[in-house]
Amino acid sequence: MASFLQIADDEKGHELDLFCVPKHYENDLERVIIPHGLIMDRTERLARDIVRDMGGHHIVALCVLKGGYKFFADLLDYITALNQNSDKSVPLTVDFIRVKSYCNDQSTNRVKVIGGDELSKLSGKDIVETGRTMETLLSLLSDCKPKMVKVVSLLVKRTPRSSGYRPDYIGFEVPDAFLVGYALDYNEYFRDLSHICILNDRAKEKYKV
Ligand code: IMP
Ligand code: MG
Repeated sequence: MASFLQIADDEKGHELDLFCVPKHYENDLERVIIPHGLIMDRTERLARDIVRDMGGHHIVALCVLKGGYKFFADLLDYITALNQNSDKSVPLTVDFIRVKSYCNDQSTNRVKVIGGDELSKLSGKDIVETGRTMETLLSLLSDCKPKMVKVVSLLVKRTPRSSGYRPDYIGFEVPDAFLVGYALDYNEYFRDLSHICILNDRAKEKYKV
C-alpha cells in the first residue's frame, strides 16, 4: 500500500497570520492546514519514488485539470531535476484532461471529462474524496488499453463516503473537511493561494453559486 503523510483529524493547522496569503482571501480562511513548503518537500519525495519505480520506462504524464495543475507542474519539475542529475532517467511526455464534478462544496454525482488525446501511464491528481472521479477516469483510460496506469494524488480524504479506491502514490491523507489552495478551488476561487487551507463558513456563503 502507498505510504503517505497523515494529517490527523484533530490537526489544528496553523494560524493564518503566521503565513503570507493574498489580501483578497484574508477574511475567508480559517487555518493553514498544509503550508506550501511541506507540499513541495513531500512532492520531491514522491518524484524520487516514481523515478525509482518507473526504471527507464517512458511516462506519458496526464494532468487532471484544473485542480491538479500545481501539483502536476511541481511533480514534473522534481522528476525533471532527477532526470538531469542522475545516471538513470525517465523519458517524459505530457497531456492534459479536464474533469468537473463539484458545485459549492458538494459533489454533483456527475463527472464531466473534456480533452486528453494520448494514452496515459501516470496520472497526476489533486484530491481523491469518494474516488468516483478517478474510477470514472480509469475506466475511460482502460478503453485505450495502456500498458500501465499509475495514479499519483497529492491528497486522499479520510471519509465514510469513500468507495475504497486508493491511488498508487499519495502525498497526504487529510481529514474529512473541504480544503482549498494550491489549485484546489471552491467555485473556482482559491486556486491562487499557495498553502492548503480550511475555508470559513462566511466564505462558503460569499462564494456560493
Ligand atoms: P471524488 O470523485 O469524490 O473522489 O472527488 C474528487 C474531486 O472532487 C476532486 O478532483 C476535486 O475537484 C473535488 N473535491 C473533493 N474534495 C475537495 C476539497 O476538499 N476541496 C476542493 N475540491 C474537492
Ligand atoms: Mg473543483
